[in-house]
Formats: sequence, C-alpha cells, structure tokens
Amino acid sequence: MTDRPEAGYIAIVDLGSQYAHLIYKRLTYLGVRSVLADWFTEEVYRASAVVVSGSPMSALRDDVREIEEHVRVFIDNGKPLLGICFGHQVLASVLGGRLTVRPEYGRTKVLIHRKNEVLGDFNYEEVVWMSHSDCVVDTGAASVDAISENGCVAALSLPGRKVFGVQFHPEVSHTPKGTSVFRGFIRAAGLDINEITVKDRVTSYYPQALSYLQSSYRGGKVVSAVSGGVDSTVATYLAIKAIGKDNVIPVLIDHGLLREGEADEVLNNIKKVGIEPIYIDASYEFLSRLEGVESCEERRKIIGELYAKELSRIIEEVGAKYLLQGTTFPDVIESGRTRHSRRIKSHHNVGGLPQINVEVLEPLKGLYKDEVRELGRQLGLPEEIVSRHPFPGPGLAVRVIGRFTREKLELLRRADRIVTEELISAGIYDRLWQSVVTISESWVGIKGDERDEGYMVNVRLVTSEDGMTADYVLPSPEVVDRISRRITNEVNRITAVSFVTSTKPPATIEPC
Ligand code: XMP
Repeated sequence: MTDRPEAGYIAIVDLGSQYAHLIYKRLTYLGVRSVLADWFTEEVYRASAVVVSGSPMSALRDDVREIEEHVRVFIDNGKPLLGICFGHQVLASVLGGRLTVRPEYGRTKVLIHRKNEVLGDFNYEEVVWMSHSDCVVDTGAASVDAISENGCVAALSLPGRKVFGVQFHPEVSHTPKGTSVFRGFIRAAGLDINEITVKDRVTSYYPQALSYLQSSYRGGKVVSAVSGGVDSTVATYLAIKAIGKDNVIPVLIDHGLLREGEADEVLNNIKKVGIEPIYIDASYEFLSRLEGVESCEERRKIIGELYAKELSRIIEEVGAKYLLQGTTFPDVIESGRTRHSRRIKSHHNVGGLPQINVEVLEPLKGLYKDEVRELGRQLGLPEEIVSRHPFPGPGLAVRVIGRFTREKLELLRRADRIVTEELISAGIYDRLWQSVVTISESWVGIKGDERDEGYMVNVRLVTSEDGMTADYVLPSPEVVDRISRRITNEVNRITAVSFVTSTKPPATIEPC
C-alpha cells in the first residue's frame, strides 16, 4: 500500500463507535472532505490524515494486534493521526504505554498539562464527554497532555509527530470545545478549513433533494407514512412540492401507542400545512399482540412487523409504486452498522419495510435532525412541527418497563399529560430535546389508611443536539414537587414518582 499525502481528505476508521458518523459531521462542517471506512483499506492509506474512532473492543482484553500494526505503520510513515477513545488507547499501547480498567461516562473534568496542536482552544480546566471503561495510565513514548479528574490520561501526543490521542469524544455536542480539536487536527494535517453553517448546508441540499425526487419519480402513486414527527412531515412536504399533491398519499397508522390526544394533534398540525393523511386506526391489533409481552426488544419486533404489514396492505390497495420515508443520515449509518459495532436497540427495525415490491424514496438521507429542522424552516413549516420533540416509532411501548399491559399504558398516558402540562407552564418544555415519562412496577403505597400496591413513574428530561449524547435536566424543586404530587393524586395506582439523573452515556434516552 502506498502513502500519498496529497489526497486532500481525512479517513475515519470506524471501529464500531456509536459516534463515528459525528466525526464525519464535524469535518463536513469544517469544510473538509472525509470518508468513513470500517477497516484500514487502501482508501484509508491514501488519505492525508487518519482518525481512528472509538470501539466496543478493548485494547486491554481483545486481540487488537492487527489494528496496532496499521497504527504503527501510519506513525512510521509520518501520517497525521488522531486516536479517539479506543483509538487513543491503541495509540498508547503502540507507543509502549499501559492501560487499566477505570470507567468514565458522561460529563468529566479534564486538566490540561500541555497544550498540543489539537488542544489549542482548551483552558487549563475543561468539561468533556467520556464513554469508556479502559483508561490510559502510562503513555510510553508519548507525552501526557491532559489528565481526567479520575486520573486517566485524557490527551496525549507524540513529540515531533502529528500524532494525537484524546480519551474523550470531541465529536459529540456535549464536549463544548470538541470542534476545536478537529480544527487543530485539520491544520496539523496541512488541510484548509472552510467552515459552513447548517443553513449553508441545507440551502445547497434542498435543490438536490427536489431533483432527486423528480428524477426518481416515473409516474404512479407515492405512499408516505407520516407520524407527525419532523422527518416524515418534511419528507412528505418536499415530495408534494417535487411531484405534486395528487401523486402523494400520506398515511398515518395509529398503533395505539401515541400520547394522550396526540393522534388528533398530529392530524391537525399536518393538515394545516396541506398534508391530509388517510388515518388508519390499527390500535386494537397492535395492543392485543403486545399485551403481556415482557421483552422490549420483542415488542419492537412485533410493532415493526405489524407496521410493515399494514403499510404493505395500503400500498397494495392504492397500487402505489413508491414508498416515501423520512430516513435521515444517522438512520442510514446505524441500520447498515459497521462490522465492529454492537446493537444497542433495534431502533431502525421499527416501521420495518413492507414485504412487497415497491421503490423506496428517501430524500432526507443525507441530513441530520438539526438539518431536517432547518429544511423544514426553509420550506416555511410552522415551528410546532419543526421543533417538535422527537418521539420513538414504537411510541409508549418502549416507555413501559417490565410486562406490557394496557393498564400501564393508560396510566402512563395520564402521567405523561401531567408532566407535559407542568413543563409547558413552567416554561421548560421548549428547552428540552425530550421529556420521557416511563412507568415501572412496583412500589407499595399508602393512600388514606390503605395499602396501595402501585406503579412508579420515572421522569427523564434531557437536552441534546442529536440524541447521540444527552444531559439530564432537573426542574426547580417547586416544579418537581408539583409534578410529583399531581401524578400521585390524580393518577390512581401510581404510588411513587422519580426523576432520572443520568447522562447518556451511560443511560440511553429511552429506557428500553
Ligand atoms: P436512545 O434511547 O437510544 O434514543 O438514547 C436516542 C433517540 O432515538 C429515539 N428513539 C427512537 N426513534 N424509533 C425511533 O424512530 C425507535 O425505535 C427509537 N428508539 C429511540 C429516542 O426517542 C431518542 O430521541
């Protein structure tokens, strides 16, 4: 393999990190071309610089000799190299350092000992986002440039070389100065930076998406599965603009797992912008199949299958030639997961594909959620659609912890309504990425003088930019108190309320 540094792009070796595509996103916004590769391919060797990502593998426990060999070749060839998380640990091992097991998740303080080229914007003390269990305690030939509050080497570099390692994740939005790490690395690699904004990217994406739809469409009906969420609404609106309202048939399949009043709210919202879906109430079938199912993954599977069945039926009935989906870039990346990644949840099986032959149109598949929102704004969609909280495809089914029953679903709906009302009246709701209310069993209560075996409601309020990482929000003690008292007073059989105070990682946003 040859090394030709004039290539002008950065290769990201995705060794199974949940965040590898965010590295791609950061580099795109800095105006640098990059490629995602799931191994040390020819294309990686030809790149001007290489980023080695995080991974579920362990440089301490797994056999990672092959990966170390490639990293060694890059160092020997003088290739600019940035190791992130696992990549940082591999660098430390290759350079003769030492690792131990010491987990760090979420918000973590780091102290900068030495400002190398990628830490130029960091102050002496900074907050970063971590997600690892192995920890570098000795860097061998590399210098120790930052240490975490828990004593792990948080950044290293190899003197005289363009080789850097960071234990934290500069690609996630919860590392406030993360982008500056990439800026520093791009400069160290001798490449130019031409920063772009979300608006710039969406403005140039919009005509491409229209012409993609127009050139893919060769007549016939297009069925579009809408949920009221921003992705499916923007995709449908775009399709109507590109190929005409008469050719697009929006369909809302109600699986009975929406929040209180949500089906009506969604229908009204999207009708206001000229999308008039066929409404199909399939709740009886979904809820009967889910009753008593303990495993959340099993529920996701059932919902995916039933959804695909319903959709197939409609496509056949109207004789549609196309199915329009609001798939975004992370969905594309995550559903075609790279060979080293682990499945966390079956997110993307939800609303599974119909079993009949139909061409799938995905006009948003190059965009992230924040970009889809921006596109919605550029299309003139109202803020109540564009800034709507994300809601999972399988709905409240993933917020019932333990056995799924219609009783728990109903109690959860009522508790969720109270939480929403209180958050809106306290002015908090719009600042959140999501308000996730869940129900779990069981907590012995005393109501009046009676024992009351009941359920517990957990309230998880989070901020996030993309759902990949999240920070929790705790409202003021007065709001916490009001939410808690209203739920236990107004919702029979709820005996306790808790607020979840964990970041992501380690806790995902939805409970299962
Ligand atoms: P987690 O729970 O993995 O969720 O931290 C990250 C984001 O994804 C949403 N989510 C889903 N969205 N289908 C979806 O369309 C799903 O099955 C699904 N599960 C989780 C979640 O609400 C959060 O915003």
